[in-house]
Amino acid sequence: MRMRILAIETSCDETALAIVQAQGPVGSPKFQVERSIIASQVKLHARYGGVVPNLAKREHIRNLPILLGKIGSANSLNPKQYNACDIDLIAVTVGPGLEPALWVGVEYAKQLAKKWKKPLVGVNHIEGHLYSFLLSEKDVGSKQLHTKPYTLNPDKIFPAIALVVSGGHTILVLMKSLKEYKKLGETLDDAVGESFDKVARLLNLPYPGGPEIEKFARKGNPQAIAFPSPVLNQKNYNFSYSGLKTAVLYYLKNLGSIASDFSLSRREKESLRKIESRKNLKADIAASFQRAAFLPLVVKAIRAAKEFKAKSIVIGGGVAANKELHRFLKSKVKSEKLKISVVIPPIKYCMDNAVMIGVASYINKLRNRKYPLEANGNLNL
Ligand code: KG4
Ligand code: ZN
Repeated sequence: MRMRILAIETSCDETALAIVQAQGPVGSPKFQVERSIIASQVKLHARYGGVVPNLAKREHIRNLPILLGKIGSANSLNPKQYNACDIDLIAVTVGPGLEPALWVGVEYAKQLAKKWKKPLVGVNHIEGHLYSFLLSEKDVGSKQLHTKPYTLNPDKIFPAIALVVSGGHTILVLMKSLKEYKKLGETLDDAVGESFDKVARLLNLPYPGGPEIEKFARKGNPQAIAFPSPVLNQKNYNFSYSGLKTAVLYYLKNLGSIASDFSLSRREKESLRKIESRKNLKADIAASFQRAAFLPLVVKAIRAAKEFKAKSIVIGGGVAANKELHRFLKSKVKSEKLKISVVIPPIKYCMDNAVMIGVASYINKLRNRKYPLEANGNLNL
């Protein structure tokens, strides 16, 4: 099978469109990214310290027709002009995510599919992150596009342990093949990315918190403060992040800094500023928090890899963009002398994008998996 897919993603605060060429059987699919375009709303939502669903909805409605115009027209990187007859399939994220935001994408995709007379499939956003490792080969050609198809060698990858770590999810998955996977565990409360965002807010850093904390943590000492990792010694593959966020909050409180809520008053901000003036304290908090957040991910992924004799650990989702997580995971694999490869998608495919939605739609086509064509904010893996 070979097809050109137009993929649409609107589950959160990025409106994204992609044109992906997919071919090959489920044992060794190949993907070529022909176009990928993202309209980020980060700046808009940053003012509110997080994503505002109705604002996101409004922006998606505004952005989708603009992006469709852009993605179809020729540009200097890719002189091809696309129109309806070049597209074989339309794929759209149906969930999970913010329901008003998802709804916009699904309705837009339905209208487009009708107008162009094309088949339409729904995609699970988490499967997008799960399969994004299939885009992990180095970029070649232009700086903006992943143009060389990635050749999957199933014998070297499966069984694999997959770690999906984003703003909404923290899930550990056993993948026997691209077709067959099973959830081993997940977070019982906050997602790891969510805890980065909340702790960033406590530290007076802008939204989204992940990249900011990563930046600060580089200057800090991860051993400076012993934040707890309570799930570490539990035998299951679940995670928990609300306790860690609270531990950071109490640490700051003990420093005499802030009051009970995450929304800071002017007085609280002033006392935080005092903390910030203490040399390296903020960096030490960021680094220690980051280490405590990653420790259970790394330890449990490796424990699962050993238990299920995995040949690889693959990661995906916004938090998978974190270089310290890469380093930490690889160094643990090395220090335990495990013959496990760590597969990381390029950073642009860790963050929300439509390319991964195209990839997941193709895999699901091959494995005959269908999702109802309606927005479902609580869709699970
Ligand atoms: O996958 P994603 O773009 O959207 C969701 O599906 O949630 O992930 C966004 C999340 C945010 O919580 C953000 O703070 C986090 O990923 N994130 C990071 C980094 N970059 C983004 N967390 C840690 N380190 C990063 N470098
Ligand atoms: Zn995501």
